[in-house]
Amino acid sequence: MKTFLYCLAAITLFRAGFADAAILDDTDSNSFNIKLAQKQGPVLNTPARILKALNKYNLTSRINADTLIKASSTVDLSSVNVDVEYVGTVGIGTPPKMFQMDFDTGSSDIWVPHVSCERCSQHARFDDTKSSTYSRVSNATWSLRYGDGSGVTGKVGKDTIHLGSDLSYANQTIGLATAESIDFVTDTELDGLFGLGFPSLAVIDKKQSIVQGMKEQNLIDQAIVGVYLGRARDGGSGQITFGKTDPAHYQGELKYVPVTSERYWQVELNSMKIAGVEALKGPIGAIVDTGTTLIVLPTELSKAIHAAIPGARFSTTYGWRMPCELRSTNKVNGGTDDMTVAFSLGEHEFHVKMSDLIRERAAPNAAGDKTEKLCYSGIAEARTPFIILGDTFLRSYYSVYDFDRKAVGLAPAKP
Ligand SMILES: *[C@@H]1O[C@H](CO)[C@@H](O)[C@H](O)[C@H]1NC(C)=O
Ligand SMILES: *[C@@H]1O[C@H](CO)[C@@H](O)[C@H](O)[C@H]1NC(C)=O
Ligand SMILES: *[C@@H]1O[C@H](CO)[C@@H](O)[C@H](O)[C@H]1NC(C)=O
Repeated sequence: MKTFLYCLAAITLFRAGFADAAILDDTDSNSFNIKLAQKQGPVLNTPARILKALNKYNLTSRINADTLIKASSTVDLSSVNVDVEYVGTVGIGTPPKMFQMDFDTGSSDIWVPHVSCERCSQHARFDDTKSSTYSRVSNATWSLRYGDGSGVTGKVGKDTIHLGSDLSYANQTIGLATAESIDFVTDTELDGLFGLGFPSLAVIDKKQSIVQGMKEQNLIDQAIVGVYLGRARDGGSGQITFGKTDPAHYQGELKYVPVTSERYWQVELNSMKIAGVEALKGPIGAIVDTGTTLIVLPTELSKAIHAAIPGARFSTTYGWRMPCELRSTNKVNGGTDDMTVAFSLGEHEFHVKMSDLIRERAAPNAAGDKTEKLCYSGIAEARTPFIILGDTFLRSYYSVYDFDRKAVGLAPAKP
C-alpha cells in the first residue's frame, strides 16, 4: 500500500510542477476529462423515467401512478433503442475500486453501495476494510428519501476519489449505502451517484462540493465542470471535464446565466416560445439537471408544445407519444420548417429543435394500429412550480457548472 501512496504523491507533485511550466499552453492546465457512456439495454421507458424524475423532486405526475408502475414493468422489454443514462467510471479507495456513477448536477451527495448491502443486487460494492485510506466518520448515518417513501440509507466514511487516471482527491466524504430502494436495485447500469449540485443541497456533507475542494487543493484551476452529452445518432457518448471547459464540444461562445437559488443549478426562465409563440405567463425557476433524462414542464406548457407537434398524443399509461419519423426528418411542421422551442434563461435565448424533443425510444401503439411507429416524448408533464431541463435539453447544449461565478454556461453542443 505504501508504494502506491508514494506514487500518488509523486503524480500530484509532477502535475503541479508541470502546470507552472506550461502557462503558455492552455491545454496543459490543471483539468481532466472522464468519458461518459450512454447505456444501452434494459433501461427505463418514459413512464418509468417520469416516475424517477418526479420522485427526485417530490412532484406529482399527471399520469396515474398505478398505471405508471404497471407500464414500467411490462412494457418495452425489447429495448432495441439506445436509452438515456450517462455513466462514467470513478475509482474509490486504495487500491481503487471502480464504480459506474451518474454525474448528477441535480443532487449534491456522493454515494456507492457498501459491501454489507443485501438488497443492492449485482452492483459493485465498497469494502472499507480493503482500503488503506478509508476513515469512518464517527457514527454518522444518512438517508435520501423520495416522495414515494423509497430511498437509500447508509453510513458515512471518507476516502480517496480517483477521477480519470491521474487525479486523486483524498478524504472526500462518501455515503456508503447499506440499503437501496427498488429504483436503484433495478437500475443495473448504475452503481451510485456523483452529486455536483451546491453543498447546501447535500444530505451527507454540507461543507463544500468536491469541485470546490479540488480547486482549493490546486488539483484543478477553476471550480467548474463542463458536460457534453452526445446524441445516440452521434455515437451516444459524452464527456465530463473538471477544471475547464472543452471547446472541442461546443460552438461559439458560452453564454452564462446566473444561478438564482443556490441549491440546484437553478436559473430564471423568463420566457418560452413555442414555434415563435410566447407560452409563458410569468418567470419561473428552471433547474439544469444532468441526472434527469427528460425535460419536466408544468402541464399547460407541455400541452402547448405537444399541440404544435403533428400526431402527438397523450395517454395516461404512456404519457406523450409522437410519430418517430418526425425525429429523423428533422421537420415537424408539415415537412417544411424546422420548429423550435425557445427557452429564455436570464438574458439569453436557447433554442431546441422539436425533433430533439422526441426520444429514440419506440413506444407501443394502440391495439390493432400497426400503421404508425410512435416514439416517446422527451418531455414529461407534472404539477410543478418550476421546470427541469434534463438530458433532452442538454443534448443540444454543452453545459458548464461554474461554482466560482455561480452561473450556468451554455453553448450549442458539437459532437
Ligand atoms: C458509536 O456507537 C457506539 C455503539 O453504539 C458507541 O459506543 C460509540 O461511543 C459511538 N461513537 C461515537 C463517536 O459517537
Ligand atoms: C412531498 O410532498 C408531500 C405533499 O405534496 C409532502 O407531504 C411531503 O412531505 C413531501 N416530501 C418531501 C421529502 O419533501
Ligand atoms: C486525509 O486524512 C488523513 C487522516 O485523517 C490524514 O492523515 C491525511 O493527511 C489527509 N490527507 C489530505 C490530503 O488531507
